[in-house]
Amino acid sequence: MQPGLVDVPVLSDALGSIGVVEGAVLLPFDVKRFYFIHSVPAGAARGSHAHRYLHQLVLAVSGSVNVELDDGVTVQSFALTSPAVGLHIPPGYWRTLTDFAPNSVVAVLASHEYDETDYIRDYDEFLSWSRRA
Ligand code: TYD
Repeated sequence: MQPGLVDVPVLSDALGSIGVVEGAVLLPFDVKRFYFIHSVPAGAARGSHAHRYLHQLVLAVSGSVNVELDDGVTVQSFALTSPAVGLHIPPGYWRTLTDFAPNSVVAVLASHEYDETDYIRDYDEFLSWSRRA
């Protein structure tokens, strides 16, 4: 499955905005976990792993971040600069998150609860795994 940008409906009025991610309308997976990344120091890179079965929707709810996705052959880069556009990352992509703007908050909706056995944290192991898959 290919990764892709997902338009998140935003309801705005004079009192502010609400972004809504609602079930099957937007996502090809059920959400079992929500977590968020914040207080990232300048210049830090996060990620550097792949997931065997996890789907995620990554949203820069405040600020911006760059997400690089590598399927073992091709590398794609996505600049997330708005809470109105999320990135669906299917299983099988080595991801690297860089260029966090100061005070960014990155929200992640995930298809499963945390499971360290779902992670591939060694790049050579990822390449072997993705060639077999
Ligand atoms: P990790 O997913 O490697 O972070 P990132 O991809 O943002 O760099 O997780 C960092 C640490 O936090 C790791 O020890 C696992 C732990 N963790 C949990 O315990 N539960 C979670 O839901 C997540 C996402 C991470």
